[in-house]
Amino acid sequence: MTTTDAQGGAGVRIGPVEWVIPIVGAPMAGGPTTPELVAAVSNAGGLGTLAAGYLTAEQLEPLLVEVGELTDRPFGVNLFLPGTDVGEQLSDEIAEYRTRLQIDADTLGTEVGNPRFFDEDIDAKLAVLARYRPAFVSTTFADPGRELVDRIRAEVSAQVFVTVTSPGEAAAAVASGADALIAQGVEAGGHRGIWHDVPDHPHGGPGMSTAGLVRKITKATEVPVIAAGGVGVADDVRELLDAGATAVAVGTALLCADEAGTSETYRNAVWSWEYRGTVVTRAFSGRPARALANRFATMNVDAPAAYPHVHYMTKPIRTAAAAAGNTQTLNLWAGDGWDAVQKGSAAQIIANLTGRATD
Ligand SMILES: Cc1cc2nc3c(=O)[nH]c(=O)nc-3n(C[C@H](O)[C@H](O)[C@H](O)COP(=O)(O)O)c2cc1C
Repeated sequence: MTTTDAQGGAGVRIGPVEWVIPIVGAPMAGGPTTPELVAAVSNAGGLGTLAAGYLTAEQLEPLLVEVGELTDRPFGVNLFLPGTDVGEQLSDEIAEYRTRLQIDADTLGTEVGNPRFFDEDIDAKLAVLARYRPAFVSTTFADPGRELVDRIRAEVSAQVFVTVTSPGEAAAAVASGADALIAQGVEAGGHRGIWHDVPDHPHGGPGMSTAGLVRKITKATEVPVIAAGGVGVADDVRELLDAGATAVAVGTALLCADEAGTSETYRNAVWSWEYRGTVVTRAFSGRPARALANRFATMNVDAPAAYPHVHYMTKPIRTAAAAAGNTQTLNLWAGDGWDAVQKGSAAQIIANLTGRATD
C-alpha cells in the first residue's frame, strides 16, 4: 500500500510500519551504526535500523534511549541469531589460525584475542526491546522459527523482518511467520546472513544477485521484500524496486555519512584509490563477509568457519590496526556499490539515491 508525504512522494508500508521513502538504513554493527545515523535515516523519511549484534542488553539500552530522543519516526533493531558453538569441534583449526594471527598481533604490538562463543543475550535483549518498542525487529544468521517470531510480536509488539539469502531460506522464513523478508544478495557488504555456513564453500553457500533473489522470492510470496546488497547509485535502487522490492536497504552507501560511526581509517580506505574491489572472506570473523580486498582479507580467505570465535580472536588486531591507520589489516566491510560511496549527511545521501530534493 502507498501513502503520500508532504513533498508529494509515494510512501511505503509493511503492516503497521509506515514510512516515506522506500529506503531502509541497514544495520551495521561494530561501529558504523550510531543512534544519530538511525535517527537521521528515519528523519529523512527512510527507515533506520539500530544494530544490536555483539552488544549485551545493557549496552543496547542507552542506544535505544538516544534514538528515541532523536526521532519520533519508526525505526527497527537488528538481532544476530546465535548458531551453535563450534569451538570444540573446530579447536584444531582455531589453534592453527591463532598461530597465523600471532604475526599480525606482534606487528601491531597487541595479542590475539580469546576465541569464544556469545549467545547474543537474546532473552535479555527482548526484555529491553519490550520497554522501548521499536517498530520492527530484524534478524540475521538463522531461521528465527515460529516461537521467536511469536515472542517478538507478543513481547515487543514489533513486526519481524527476517534476513534471507536464498529462495529456500525465504520459504522457511515465511513458514516461521516473517512479516517481511530482507533479501540479501551476494553483492552485499558485511556478513552474509546465510543460515548454514558451508565451510567448504568460499561464500558459505551459493549466492544469488540481489535483483535475482528479489525476483525469485516475489514470484512465490506476497510477504513484502526489502532488497539488500550492492546499491551505489539511484539506478540500483530503481532496479531493485522494479524487480519487485517494497523497499531497498543500504549499508555501504551510508558508511561515509556524517552521522555514521565509521572510523577515520575505514572512511579513508573506502574513499581512497588504494582498493580495486571486494572479496568474500572469513578472515576477520569466521563467517563469510564481503570486504574491500585488502591484504588480511585475501591472505586469510581460508580462515576456519568458526564464528564468532574468529571475530573475538581478531578483535585486538582490528582495534590496533584502526588506531594505527593500517587499512590492510582492518575489516573494511563493503558491498559491490562501494565505488559510488558519497560523503555528506545521511539525508543528502538518501536524497541522491532516490532522486529527491532535500530541504
Ligand atoms: C559495515 C557493515 C556492517 C554490517 N552489519 C550488519 C549487522 O549488524 N546486521 C545485519 O543484519 N547486517 C549487517 N550488514 C549487512 C547489511 O545489513 C546489508 O545486508 C548490506 O549492507 C547491504 O549491502 P550494501 O552494503 O551493499 O548496501 C552490515 C554491512 C556493513 C557494510
